[in-house]
Amino acid sequence: MPHSALLNVMIKAAFRAGKSLKRDLGEIENLQVSLKGPRNFVTAADRRAEEILRQELAKARPDYGFLGEEGGAHPGADKTHRWIVDPLDGTTNFLHGIPHFAVSIALERNGAIVAGLTYNPANDELYVAERGKGAFLNDRRLRVASRRNLAEAIVACGLPHYGRGDLDKARSEIFAAQKHFAGLRRFGAATLDLAYIAAGRFDAYWERDLSPWDMAAGSLIVREAGGFVSDLDGGDAMLTKGHIAAGNEFMHRELIRLLKAAGSEAAKVHEPL
Ligand code: IPD
Ligand code: CA
Ligand code: CA
Repeated sequence: MPHSALLNVMIKAAFRAGKSLKRDLGEIENLQVSLKGPRNFVTAADRRAEEILRQELAKARPDYGFLGEEGGAHPGADKTHRWIVDPLDGTTNFLHGIPHFAVSIALERNGAIVAGLTYNPANDELYVAERGKGAFLNDRRLRVASRRNLAEAIVACGLPHYGRGDLDKARSEIFAAQKHFAGLRRFGAATLDLAYIAAGRFDAYWERDLSPWDMAAGSLIVREAGGFVSDLDGGDAMLTKGHIAAGNEFMHRELIRLLKAAGSEAAKVHEPL
């Protein structure tokens, strides 16, 4: 499928960063067995990937702003465009040599996401979307799953990292919602959770305590695959509120309803998992 010039810029940058991450993943296996472990190495891999992305994107669009997880915000002369980048989403997976992680690049124009890319270099899955032009996995057009029965749904969620986020809240939501689904998954890379919704693999997904770079690309990919994405209050403020729900129209609505009910239940009962 021929891509626009803009997507080609994003793809080229993601492939370069992905190559670097893939090379580094190879090293991780050796480091797993060393006493020092791969943590410092992973931090360096992450920064290296972000630097590659920043350079590649700046080469093609020198005036655009840049927001990256590692290096923070770099305002550009062009105040209407900004890249939002997570060079390595799924760091914990990467650290353990689990090949489920991705490079994520979004382009924001006047506050709206107009292009998104999620690339897993470990299996070469490239998800792209541009506003109004559909979403694609490699060359295949994507469509969210059409299931309308919660009892058949595979639903993905997130859980806060050790020492971060509200673990009790996450547990009470899972406690209340999980019994309605065929299965619950926690794969550990938000941008891929969203991409999997677009690909019809997951039926729904929710998570709290996220950052803009975790969600920016994936939320456009889901919408362009015909899915629904919102914050957990049903609004469009995912990137500022840091929480998100996604699915087809039915699953998205039902998930939000279940989580709301979980909130009011949690106020009454509190049972550990
Ligand atoms: C994390 C992943 C994970 C989500 C975390 C994020 P990182 O991003 O997306 O799935 O549960 O909250 O912070 O740290 O691997 O880039
Ligand atoms: Ca992330
Ligand atoms: Ca990251």
